[in-house]
Amino acid sequence: MSDKRKILVTSALPYANGPIHLGHLVEYIQTDIWVRFQKMRGHDCHYVCADDTHGTPIMLRAEKEGITPEALIARVHGEHYRDFQGFHVAFDNYYTTHSDETRYFAETIYQRLKDRGLIESRAIEQYYDPVKEMFLPDRFIKGECPKCHAKDQYGDSCEACGTTYTPTDLINPYSVVSGAAPVRRESVHYFFKLSDPVCQKYLREWTTGQLNETPPLQPEAANKMQEWLGLEGENKLSDWDISRDAPYFGFEIPDAPGKYFYVWLDAPIGYMGSFKNFTDRSGKDFDEYWSKDSQAELYHFIGKDILYFHALFWPAMLEHSDFRTPTKVFAHGFLTVNGEKMSKSRGTFITAESYLKQGLNPEWLRYYYACKLNGTMEDIDLSLEDFVARVNSDLVGKFVNIASRCAGFISKRFDGKLGSPDPLASEEFDSASASREIAQYYETRDYAKAVRKIMEIADKANVYVNNNKPWELAKLEDTQENQEKLHQVCTTALGLFRDLALYLKPILPKLGIQVEQFLNIPLVWDDVYKTLPEGHQINTYQHLMTRIESKQIEALVEANKTNMQATVEPEPHSEQRHAEHQQHTIQPIAETIGIDEFAKIDLRIARIVKAEHVEKADKLLKLTLDIGELEPRTVFAGIKSAYDPSQLEGKLTVMVANLEPRKMKFGLSEGMVLAASDERGGPCVLFPDEGAKPGMRVK
Ligand code: MSP
Ligand code: ZN
Repeated sequence: MSDKRKILVTSALPYANGPIHLGHLVEYIQTDIWVRFQKMRGHDCHYVCADDTHGTPIMLRAEKEGITPEALIARVHGEHYRDFQGFHVAFDNYYTTHSDETRYFAETIYQRLKDRGLIESRAIEQYYDPVKEMFLPDRFIKGECPKCHAKDQYGDSCEACGTTYTPTDLINPYSVVSGAAPVRRESVHYFFKLSDPVCQKYLREWTTGQLNETPPLQPEAANKMQEWLGLEGENKLSDWDISRDAPYFGFEIPDAPGKYFYVWLDAPIGYMGSFKNFTDRSGKDFDEYWSKDSQAELYHFIGKDILYFHALFWPAMLEHSDFRTPTKVFAHGFLTVNGEKMSKSRGTFITAESYLKQGLNPEWLRYYYACKLNGTMEDIDLSLEDFVARVNSDLVGKFVNIASRCAGFISKRFDGKLGSPDPLASEEFDSASASREIAQYYETRDYAKAVRKIMEIADKANVYVNNNKPWELAKLEDTQENQEKLHQVCTTALGLFRDLALYLKPILPKLGIQVEQFLNIPLVWDDVYKTLPEGHQINTYQHLMTRIESKQIEALVEANKTNMQATVEPEPHSEQRHAEHQQHTIQPIAETIGIDEFAKIDLRIARIVKAEHVEKADKLLKLTLDIGELEPRTVFAGIKSAYDPSQLEGKLTVMVANLEPRKMKFGLSEGMVLAASDERGGPCVLFPDEGAKPGMRVK
């Protein structure tokens, strides 16, 4: 086949510090379905993954269990691999980031970035546990929430009231590791200079799709990136801290003793490490997939929470170290169960292991997820009631039903041999066009539409069986005509069943194999254009799938109910996780200035007379500001992500009134409004206290 594509696919590397749960499986099942589809279409498609093994949480967990981190990650690797296999997720390689291959590429990439002048070291201040003698990621600092006074809240945000803050804002902060009060301490860190104009320019082009034939990101993801990157000239990205101090479980930086690569530096490099390990074992060519001029396609399936790493850091790292960049990054939403975040106390934090242990069929879940996945970043909900209803009605009631109602007659009356199908039915069903449509849905990851189309065909096939009633034909007088009619109806129905099993095979691979045995043929995509040959011998029908009983689901939820006290593992899952597991960098206070210098800035109270959207601007709002002058001023402010214009009109704010006017694509901006922001959020516009009037000077 000349149009045979070379495709490398990855799923995000799960952390080695916890079990695989149903949330993870959204991603691995989504990816596996896509990979299986590509393979069925005859493409050269490889699927690699690995455990993400480095970082502080893994180091501390091993310590708590009294084992080495190496022993911990080896054990978890076995558990993860077992769970994935249990759900029929078929990696071509499932490796680990704690490998020679990953170390090699991490060092190579680091060295090349350094040669390009994109690595810089500087001293920063962070929180330090003086007893345990280690720097503390924000999630390892706890204390009382400064706002609602809830006890034992993490150092970055309060789970009771949702406020975000820095660890020092906490009342009586303490280290989760030793209980000691954290202190500030300085240390040298290594940074990847993302703020460099070269990086920002590149990312602006890459994320907006100017460098690829088709955009590498979904539209929602591309918008998010524009927000993070800022406008041209605005260059909002700051340098990325890629080092951590000992003690740390990871790769030591070659020229920097006691400094380690931050886990998020080597994690995506683990994709390369896993693929290298695969090519070394299988005799394939690594460079064909990763060299700068590679013609192969590279796709990363990820959750929306780790977009920042995959759409900014990762392409920038690859580009500036002379490797190829991803063809596309496919982000999916988060799983909720019964409309809520998975919860250990409600029993909806369901592990893959418990699902399988309860004897539930993994293909039920694969099917349900397929029904819900549409290729966007929307969250998907597992409604347990709907899960039962959907699987029972679609898979058992519609799909399997076709075979179970017709197969017996072929075995009993016709020696297991098929007849010739009904020509009218073949015409009506038009398999060729259905197969093209379904293939298109798979390709674009709109499995929901694929399933809908497949079930439409199943409905029609059932109507065909109902109209022709083989069970009644079988009771008629044993004439040749009646026999032929029965043979034809059952053959037609089984032909349709073959097509349906084939369409569903990426989703239901095990059932696909059972159907192949039953029908005694391989399910090959191109074959939908052909009817099964007359006289083809099939095997006796054996039950293909049972119904889910509600009580099985109740037992599953019960089995997953744990006492919250027992779980201390920090499990952050916000939409933006790029700051997660970070050590909070205490922003240095700028150089000291005299009051004269400050007085040069003319800050005024401004009334927002009008706030409007600006056509084609993703980030900007156009503000009309009254500061007591004859004519109001126009200011373009990058606050669209956080404010709706109607929220702002009539409000007072603070503006820099003597800033040199700036000509922008959308018009002249005559000043600036003040707003707060950092990696934890924003922008938050400043609003003055009561009594302030437009034009008052702020000093
Ligand atoms: N180790 C990082 C990924 C490194 S990739 C170079 C990580 N690990 S994770 O175990 O937290 O998550 C693995 C994947 O599962 C991520 O893509 C994440 O978005 C996804 N999911 C984890 N919980 C999820 C849900 N509840 N719902 C949907 N996907 C979820 O992130
Ligand atoms: Zn609070």
